[in-house]
Amino acid sequence: MKIVSIIGARPQFIKAAVVSKEIKKRVGIEDVLIHTGQHYDENMSKIFFDELEIPHPNYNLEVGSGLHGAQTAAMLERTEQILIKEKPDWVLVYGDTNSTIAGALAAAKLHIKIAHVEAGLRSFNKLMPEEINRITTDRISDLLLVPSQNAMQLLAKENLVENAIFTGDVMFDSILFYQHMAEEKYSLKSITNEDEFYLATVHRAENTDDKERLQNIFTAFSEMDKPVLLPLHPRTKSKLTGIIFNDNIKIIEPVSYLEMILLLKNSSKVLTDSGGLQKEAYFMKKPCITMRDETEWIETLNGNWNFICGANAKLILEKICVNQFDKQKEYYGNGSAGKNIVDALMNI
Ligand code: UD1
Repeated sequence: MKIVSIIGARPQFIKAAVVSKEIKKRVGIEDVLIHTGQHYDENMSKIFFDELEIPHPNYNLEVGSGLHGAQTAAMLERTEQILIKEKPDWVLVYGDTNSTIAGALAAAKLHIKIAHVEAGLRSFNKLMPEEINRITTDRISDLLLVPSQNAMQLLAKENLVENAIFTGDVMFDSILFYQHMAEEKYSLKSITNEDEFYLATVHRAENTDDKERLQNIFTAFSEMDKPVLLPLHPRTKSKLTGIIFNDNIKIIEPVSYLEMILLLKNSSKVLTDSGGLQKEAYFMKKPCITMRDETEWIETLNGNWNFICGANAKLILEKICVNQFDKQKEYYGNGSAGKNIVDALMNI
């Protein structure tokens, strides 16, 4: 059996590492890797491949940045050529980025079966490019690999459940696997001098491309009772002109996945607009403030573990003070999502 896996952005490298490790254990599967080049900076891409020991991509499309249409179109055109040549049994796509929809669309037009890892998530906000990408990818996929029961129910409402399998979440597998490696490889001191801090990330278009929202977030960070450590995505860095903030915000370069796990482990709480980090905070039992107006990972909201605060500085500052939490439940499987995914691909 031949699989072509398509990845391009930071969170996809982490998810693919889990599945690729499982594929390596099996006989009779050829895994061809396409990197679209959506993320291309060394610390946004190469470092993840090295650290997570992901096989070197067979193809790099070197698409780079651009408007959504242009970026997606370039990926689509180049992927199509490769799929015609490789003739895989499956195309495997991950998550909700422009690389996901480009890969899925190229395969669909060539009548190649598509499997979607992290299917069934919805924010119900079509202003997010990610929401368009995931709705469309789920609709044209042949196999939906689903991380949570809530996502299964959402697929049922869209009459897509027939092709869906609950696998658990690859990000949960990942954190279980890489946690110890993070501690062996890095020390906190090698990343930051702060001992007590909140860990923050900001990169979503709805926050970075709206000056008022970005300012509100930076105002909240500036007024917090602990330093806010902020590994900064290049998109956000490029939008900081005119934004006022003080030295309570400790900006550092984007960190690797293992460094991120270590920071998470040592943080007091998390502030983020990322989907992945909300869940990683939950897995590591760190309270989270989500700086968006909705979340796809609604299970994390139970028991005060995560609060939706948008870009409302007052609400962010209020919720960061909550310190009462209920016992957590395991919503995201038992750490065998990678195995379940490869089983599903082999059995269909
Ligand atoms: C993308 C995904 C988002 C995911 C995120 C993870 C889409 C629509 N969005 O957002 O769902 O959560 O990746 O990080 O696919 N840039 C660099 N160097 C890089 C990559 C990006 O400088 O290596 C800058 C460029 O200025 C670029 C901007 O970041 O224009 C945005 O990059 P892009 O890949 O379009 O989207 P992300 O914001 O990273």
